[in-house]
Amino acid sequence: MSDANRVFSLRNLPAPTRAVLAVFLIVIGCGYFSGLVQLHFQHASPGNLLPDSKDVVRIYHGEPKGEPKSKFQQLLEADESLPFNGTGTMRPAFTTKSERRWKENFAKLSPEEQKKLLAEREGERLALLDWLKQGASKDAFEKDEFKLSKPLIITEDYIIGDKDAEGRAIQVRINAIFTDRCVRCHQESGADKDAEKYPLDEWQHLEKYLKIEEGSAPMELAKLAQTTHVHLIGFTMMYGLTGLIFSLTGWPTWTRVVLAPWPMFWQAIDIACWWLARLDPLAAQAILVTGALVASGFGLQVFGSLLDLFGLSLPRR
Ligand code: HEC
Repeated sequence: MSDANRVFSLRNLPAPTRAVLAVFLIVIGCGYFSGLVQLHFQHASPGNLLPDSKDVVRIYHGEPKGEPKSKFQQLLEADESLPFNGTGTMRPAFTTKSERRWKENFAKLSPEEQKKLLAEREGERLALLDWLKQGASKDAFEKDEFKLSKPLIITEDYIIGDKDAEGRAIQVRINAIFTDRCVRCHQESGADKDAEKYPLDEWQHLEKYLKIEEGSAPMELAKLAQTTHVHLIGFTMMYGLTGLIFSLTGWPTWTRVVLAPWPMFWQAIDIACWWLARLDPLAAQAILVTGALVASGFGLQVFGSLLDLFGLSLPRR
């Protein structure tokens, strides 16, 4: 049976059906593109359009070597320029993310005041780190009284008792620092919608982030399981539909046999790599390849199907 006589062919469908399919393809193409934009903001290091191999290793495998540390320590030590989230850094919580209008307010200060403020904020960060490195004592946290291992310049509000001869704090209110700098966002109806999902306002919430892990921890298992579930179902529906549509175009049979199931197949491999990446950083890097294979296949499907719908594919045989 020649292609032109196929019963199930896009071009033989009634015009309204073709209109639905055309709009569907355009809208889902836009949806895919906005997903890429989100990927950029969520996971790409500054300067990168999309996550690069270092980013995927950090997210899916964790930093391979380095001293064992807790998630908190990792987030407080990570470079400030990394994305502001759970796989990047929380360091800006002491500065640029410490208030909504940081930029304006900071600009109003004199250079000396700016320097003093930054030094005091850095002291807060170092105090939290000191507490973490000394075992994150629950007692000190609940009494809101922590003796520093070495004196620090720090914001006046958090100092307990006398300072040393150089005006540095010896004891600090560790809980108050944490509440002002972290819980501000990490609580119900806090200052950040995304952070609300990870409340830190009770000790039992903190505990899991205090566990010491070899190297930096990759994405949490529970979170990985959830995105796996969402993506397996969501993507399979999406690529299943675009694949079915493409399979009914007038493009040569071999193109359709290969390209129609292509994104669905590579998406499954991609997700398998998310899990394998926990064992081997190479699998994390493979995510970039499988991701590109999915995206190019999907792009070709949408584009190829639209051309066919508008009668622009290869001439009929
Ligand atoms: C300006 C708001 C804000 C402040 C302040 C803030 N965070 Fe966050 N935090 C976020 C956002 C946004 C995320 C990413 C949430 C997501 O994955 O959707 C996040 C994620 C995290 C995560 C990862 C949660 C997870 O399980 O994925 C931890 C841990 C964390 N923050 C700790 C801290 C600590 C410690 C501080 C204080 C030094 C802090 N945060 C201050 C907004 C904030």
